Amino acid sequence: MPHNNQLILLNLAKDFAFEYLNHLDTANVIPDTNALESLNVFDEALPIQGNQATDTITKLASIGNKTTVNYNTGRYFGFVNGGVYPVGIAARWLADTWDQNAALNIMSPIGAKLEEVCENWVTELLGLPKQSKMGLVTGTSVATLCGLAAARYRLYQRLQWDVQVNGLIGAPRLRIIMGKQTHGTVTKMVSLLGFGSAAIEWVECDAQGRMLVDKIPPLDKQCIVILQAGNVCTGAFDDFKTICNTANAVGAWVHIDGAFGLWAAASQQFRALTHGMELADSWSVDGHKTLNTPYDCGLILCQDSEALVHAMQQTGSYIDLAQDSQRDGMLYTPDMSRRARGIDLWAVLHHLGQKGVANLVETLHQHAVYLAGELKDSPITVLNEVVFNQVMLQCDSPELTQTLLAKIQASGVIWCGGAQWQGQPVIRISICSWKTTQADMDITLKTILNCLKS
Ligand SMILES: Cc1ncc(COP(=O)(O)O)c(C=O)c1O
Repeated sequence: MPHNNQLILLNLAKDFAFEYLNHLDTANVIPDTNALESLNVFDEALPIQGNQATDTITKLASIGNKTTVNYNTGRYFGFVNGGVYPVGIAARWLADTWDQNAALNIMSPIGAKLEEVCENWVTELLGLPKQSKMGLVTGTSVATLCGLAAARYRLYQRLQWDVQVNGLIGAPRLRIIMGKQTHGTVTKMVSLLGFGSAAIEWVECDAQGRMLVDKIPPLDKQCIVILQAGNVCTGAFDDFKTICNTANAVGAWVHIDGAFGLWAAASQQFRALTHGMELADSWSVDGHKTLNTPYDCGLILCQDSEALVHAMQQTGSYIDLAQDSQRDGMLYTPDMSRRARGIDLWAVLHHLGQKGVANLVETLHQHAVYLAGELKDSPITVLNEVVFNQVMLQCDSPELTQTLLAKIQASGVIWCGGAQWQGQPVIRISICSWKTTQADMDITLKTILNCLKS
């Protein structure tokens, strides 16, 4: 395609993106039925002849612009999805235009450099040990996989079993210690790594989902202990200091799943929640949740870089790993070719600075506290201690809770999801977007109360 046509195409995409953004503030958070029906336009056979690129983009954008779920309205509270900072989008546009592959330094010096800078910044911001290494993957699920793979390598190596060579058949059994409120993605990764669900020793939790320390079984050097910085429903944090000290004394490995909560450590106000987390061996966290980077951005941080590198090892006659002074991102990740997500992570961190990240975390919390406080005198019960950005609601009966949730979801004004907590349905409000303002919280409150009355 001649250079000029590329510009026309990118300008067209930009115009559609601007059109989308211009309508965002007044848009519903979810697409309506008519818009969803328009998705059927895509049900066509793969064209035999190709189409003009401008026609392809026009078709995509004219349907796509009205069928998105709009996280960036400031009124979307589903899952822990977060929003995206414009600086992140702009950096990603550039990175995508540059078409960088972040596997090796030689493939993308800028990708490698910015990953390294982010590794230093994040380690410092979160108060993790200086020697920690960072791999950038798709999200916390895969980051947890990497942390557990590093644990598996190191514990087996200490038991003189080379798991890379011998695999798991005939290996001494490792024990996986985790709370009953651990996120489902962790269980999935435990299973993908071949530990088997029989290896899991489930620990009882308190009403907020924190592991009960005195229910943790005796640990030993064959244990991987998985803790949580931010329960997906309540936002609760485990007691890292006590548990890490016990685990470290016997040579167990500790991994912390901090998908959205690890960023609490960036704020003076919330650092106490993560007290002692630096005593763990590995941590997983997302950029695309609390930090509001573009998808997909998961960070594995590991203070035992040798274990991480060994667990992720790959060779090939055509792969020339960089020498000491340079950094090859694929040393720390399961995949080789990857988009250069360090570029947009860098841009968001560079734009926010330490104060900006702290301010973001504190603002999300303030919104959560405000909502919970305003609902106190309503017939809705706030079930959790609002320690971070999650608010968990329940009505007088399971039926009422489910009806309220359905009405909220149908409103289109705000959106949140449901879950089961101690066997009962709950409504989860996850305040995770930089876009959310006090006005959004007032609309949210009004919508919830209107849905309750209607
Ligand atoms: C505590 C926790 N762990 C792990 C995950 C999975 O993260 P991801 O979807 O980025 O893989 C989530 C997602 O919400 C989470 O809240």
